[in-house]
Amino acid sequence: MLARKYQYSSEIDYNISKVVENEKYYTFICGDSLEVLQSIPSEIVNCVVTSPPYWNLREYDVAEDSNVIGNESNYQNYVINLTRIFDEIRRILTKDGSLWLNLGDKYHNKELLGMPWRVALSLMDNGWILRNDVIWDQMKGTQSSKDRLRDVYEHIFHFVKNKKYYYAHDEIRIAPVKKPKIYNGEIVSATGVSGKKYRQQISESKFLSKEEKTAANQALDEILLEILNGKLVDFRMTIRGEQRAFHSDNTSISGRAKELESKGFYFIKMGANGHLPSDIWRIAPEDTWRKDAHYAVFPEELLVNPIKATCPENGIVLDPFSGTGSTVVTAFKLKRRGIGIDLSEYYTDLAKQRIKNVNLSLF
Ligand SMILES: C[S@@+](CC[C@H](N)C(=O)[O-])C[C@H]1O[C@@H](n2cnc3c(N)ncnc32)[C@H](O)[C@@H]1O
Repeated sequence: MLARKYQYSSEIDYNISKVVENEKYYTFICGDSLEVLQSIPSEIVNCVVTSPPYWNLREYDVAEDSNVIGNESNYQNYVINLTRIFDEIRRILTKDGSLWLNLGDKYHNKELLGMPWRVALSLMDNGWILRNDVIWDQMKGTQSSKDRLRDVYEHIFHFVKNKKYYYAHDEIRIAPVKKPKIYNGEIVSATGVSGKKYRQQISESKFLSKEEKTAANQALDEILLEILNGKLVDFRMTIRGEQRAFHSDNTSISGRAKELESKGFYFIKMGANGHLPSDIWRIAPEDTWRKDAHYAVFPEELLVNPIKATCPENGIVLDPFSGTGSTVVTAFKLKRRGIGIDLSEYYTDLAKQRIKNVNLSLF
């Protein structure tokens, strides 16, 4: 058994210590997140994925006098309360840890409040580093007003504590669907690029010298060979004076601008082991648990990439607003440990019930 890192006094501390000391896979704690977080030792949680209540929008199954986030009389206090909770989360995250924060926006007196960004900016002011703003496209939205468009997206902010952090990008790569092939004797990339057009542009170019043209043709041959050997599935070539470049043309900032200036061309390559997902996720919201819980539950699909990318196997994932326990359940299925905190006894019981139904043959 590992040496105890801290002295526990209450049942809450005891349950957390069991997870921290690797004697239990998970725990669900019914309590106010700020208070519970304060009893968690520093730098032990690898990744937090959470969805706090919206401000002034939904009612939860909690005691009336409890400290429900979202019930503040003005949104400024909501931002302050969330920032305080996420300060505490920064303390308990490992140095290389991550926070994935899901927030939706809200209209008040006909005005869109920009709540996700109000919270995000407050967290950044308090030391968090924002790495991604993922748009969660929920595909179907409610039409609540005839003088504006339907709302279909929410934000998922990826924050880190330090510039160097754990990110297992190979775990979340999307395998290429199409494969390169040989067509009419030409090697053709996954998206149909053969090199023919580039060769013509090189030969007719007024912006490349004779030597640069020879080097560009040679480099193109090498890329096509890599495609043939299965090392690459796709590529794009940018040739001086031909393709429109979207990067800065300042050579001290952009490596691509530098290559374009010195050689007259560069390549963007897609490896055979796939590419990273984009920052727009099209995932339908979860319906299965809604009937019981009466509020938006995380779909498991949404949780897989954040957990796989930012928590190593057997690491600890935490959700300070765990509701029906989706984050901890998914972490458990992915062989990570989990801590869930929620003010509602009802949801905490649902979460405990839900995780008991996880098929243990997964392990
Ligand atoms: C949007 S729901 C989370 C849903 C969850 N992601 C799931 O998949 O079921 C927000 C949760 O925050 C809880 N909550 C509100 N204020 C809280 C507080 N001060 N401490 C802990 N939980 C709180 C509510 O009871 C509710 O279950």
